[in-house]
Amino acid sequence: MIPLCEPAIAGNEIKYISECIEKRWISTYGEFIKRFEEKFKEFLGVKHAIAVSSGTAALHLALRALNIGEEDEVIIPSLTFIATANAVKYVGAEPVFVDVKKDTFVLNVEKVEEMITPKTKAIIPVHLYGYAADMEKLRKIAEKYDLYIIEDATEALGTKFKGRYVGTFGEFGCFSFNGNKLITTGNGGMIVTNRDDLAEYVRYLSSQAKTMLSNNGFVHNEIGYNYRLPNLLAAFGLAQLEKLEEFLRAKRRNAEIYNLYLKDVKGVITPFDTEEVENSYWLYSIVVTENFGITRDELIDELKKHEIESRPFFQPIHLMRNFRNCKKSEMNNTEYLASHGINLPSSVSLEEKEIELICTIIKRYG
Ligand SMILES: Cc1ncc(COP(=O)(O)O)c(C=O)c1O
Repeated sequence: MIPLCEPAIAGNEIKYISECIEKRWISTYGEFIKRFEEKFKEFLGVKHAIAVSSGTAALHLALRALNIGEEDEVIIPSLTFIATANAVKYVGAEPVFVDVKKDTFVLNVEKVEEMITPKTKAIIPVHLYGYAADMEKLRKIAEKYDLYIIEDATEALGTKFKGRYVGTFGEFGCFSFNGNKLITTGNGGMIVTNRDDLAEYVRYLSSQAKTMLSNNGFVHNEIGYNYRLPNLLAAFGLAQLEKLEEFLRAKRRNAEIYNLYLKDVKGVITPFDTEEVENSYWLYSIVVTENFGITRDELIDELKKHEIESRPFFQPIHLMRNFRNCKKSEMNNTEYLASHGINLPSSVSLEEKEIELICTIIKRYG
């Protein structure tokens, strides 16, 4: 089986985990959380990075820290993983869905303004599959209407917009380290910000809103969460982070090879960099149009017959039961991409001959 995207574990993972076990740095005590956070913020060039238990937790904390709650609206794309929308619901706010761009799958910034109301408090652009939303235009809109930006950069560690890493443009950037992400801790995430006050508040909320008393007792004056990342996982994460540049090069190499083999295949649109965006190619994502010989789902079946795992793009959230009644813009591109987009195998360890095999099967229909 050629998997969709499996982690690469070939660095200091065992060494650092062993160190944790030897020194009893299992939970919150120990050095790895700090080292992981320091290295992460150094990479992004951001002031604060707080390690948390998942990307979903990062999004939830961002919304809580900005005091977003009932009666508030948050603009998000509908073409995203459910966690983006769920996090908005966790704080009692309402997601408002805006369509995406057909060529890059990310929030269509041109459509954002028409969905802003006096209730709108924030925008969450999702940098899907390694592409990036137009953060320049989005920031202008946010400034004009006095809105917060929380970047869902869970799928785009290493992606750049105009030379700057995504996740660093908004009040918060949220990252995920689940099993198929560019770097993994099994389950985990990071929330980054340039604001000192917000960083401090997020740390507080992520550890049950705990204040230590002089006698080592705790007092909790707010509802908080158990969202911290333990040392054991941070140790794993640090080892992964040391390989980040290498992983990014491998993803780019995968994309270059795929693009070469799929060049000129009828009905297949391949991913690309734009003048502004340096794609991380976390997942190699193509769109299969009506000119292709078979449908997207038939292609998924065909690949499966050859033991190749692929995945359709996310299903539109505005069509899901819990979100059907939410406000939304027209959704032509979201619905088109959800039924025509496909993620192909994208592991860091993918070999050229495997890409060639995948593309040979695709080419039979193009
Ligand atoms: C777009 C998007 N948002 C949020 C998340 C949530 O991250 P996690 O699974 O770490 O909670 C993910 C990943 O799973 C994602 O792909």
